[in-house]
Parts: sequence; C-alpha cells; structure tokens
Amino acid sequence: MKSVAAAAVDTRSRVAVLISGAGSNLQALIDACASGALSAQVVVVVSSRTDAGGLSRARLAGIPTVALPHVGFADRDAHERALVAALEPCRPDLIVLAGWMRVLGPTFLTRFGSRTINLHPALSGAFPGPNAIARAWAAFQRGEIDRTGVMVHRVVAEVDAGPVVAVCEVALHSGESLPDLTARVRAEEHRLLVDAVGLTLTGDVPDC
Ligand code: GAR
Repeated sequence: MKSVAAAAVDTRSRVAVLISGAGSNLQALIDACASGALSAQVVVVVSSRTDAGGLSRARLAGIPTVALPHVGFADRDAHERALVAALEPCRPDLIVLAGWMRVLGPTFLTRFGSRTINLHPALSGAFPGPNAIARAWAAFQRGEIDRTGVMVHRVVAEVDAGPVVAVCEVALHSGESLPDLTARVRAEEHRLLVDAVGLTLTGDVPDC
C-alpha cells in the first residue's frame, strides 16, 4: 500500500492588509508574523494605488498583491464589489486597514465589516480623514491640544470611527518638527497595530 505524507496544515490566522501608501505598518505586521510575535500570516495585500510602496514590501515577503485603484470603475459600489471579490478567495479571518485611504461603504461592510479593523494616527474622535498627524501638530502650535495619539478601531460607516480596540496617547512637545512628530507617531503605530491585531485574533488585552 502506498503511504501518503500528511501535508502540514497552517493553523495561523489569515490576515488581509489593505494599504494606499508606503506600507510601514504593513511591514510591522509582516515582521511580527515572521518572528512569531503574531500567530498569523498575511495572505494578501490589496492597494488602492498602483504605485504604493507597500506593494514592494509585500512582494519582497512573497505575499500575493492586488492593485485595485478606483479609476475605471463605474462608481464606488463597483469598486467595492471588486474589492470583495479579490478578498473572498483569500478567506481572511481579519482585514486590517493599514493606511487604506478609501472610504468603505455598505457593499464592503455587509460582507467584511465585522472582521475589519482600521489604524488611525489620532485619538478617538480627533482628526478623522487624511493628514491627521499634520493637523494635530498644527492644532498644538495653535495651543488647541496638548496630546495626540494612535488608535485601532473596528470599522463602521463613519470615517475613522468605531469601537476602539487599542489606543495609545502621544505627548506633544514644544519645538518638535512635524517630521519628528510623524516619526514618533509611526513608531507607536507599528507597536500598537501588532498588539491590536493580536488582541483581535486572540481576545487578549494589549499593553499600551
Ligand atoms: C498611517 O499613519 C496610518 O495610520 C494612516 O496612514 C498612514 C499609513 O502609513 N491612516 C490614516 O490616516 C487613516 N485615516 P504607512 O503606509 O507607512 O503604513
């Protein structure tokens, strides 16, 4: 009788990452998966831009990529249907918006909303939308705020809002340049995002 070696089954959680830019947060996830800090694998990276730097990071790590710019689609819903169609065969347990700069509507949310989290470089309720770090920095210069932060939240129809999974405050310092603040916020993001993905997958509470 012929013996058949059992194929190793990968039991790690399947994570899809959606990006639009440099992908430094994607890199943090790739590194955490590679080191075993996260018991997860990034099974696909979808980008809303064909020139996103994060696509190269994914390819370098051997992760399948899909570039899905909205240009050429009839409307937002048609683009979202294509996004859902790209994700479905990948069977993601969790979808992480790591710098994904497109608003997601009912077509995506109905299918995947309950298993999607978003990273935002501000505190809950503050500076929704793009350029949050620059807007927080400018608000500090005007004396309007004395701290900013980073949060990861579950996704709802409202932009950069929804139940918070993990949050971290970042103090603001007089005389600090915007590039320096950006670097500090990014470092917090990289740490918090890995914690938040672990939390979401396991139910544990991350340190902040
Ligand atoms: C990150 O700062 C992320 O929080 C932000 O885009 C950046 C992507 O950087 N997302 C938002 O502003 C969502 N409103 P990365 O491409 O280097 O990970």
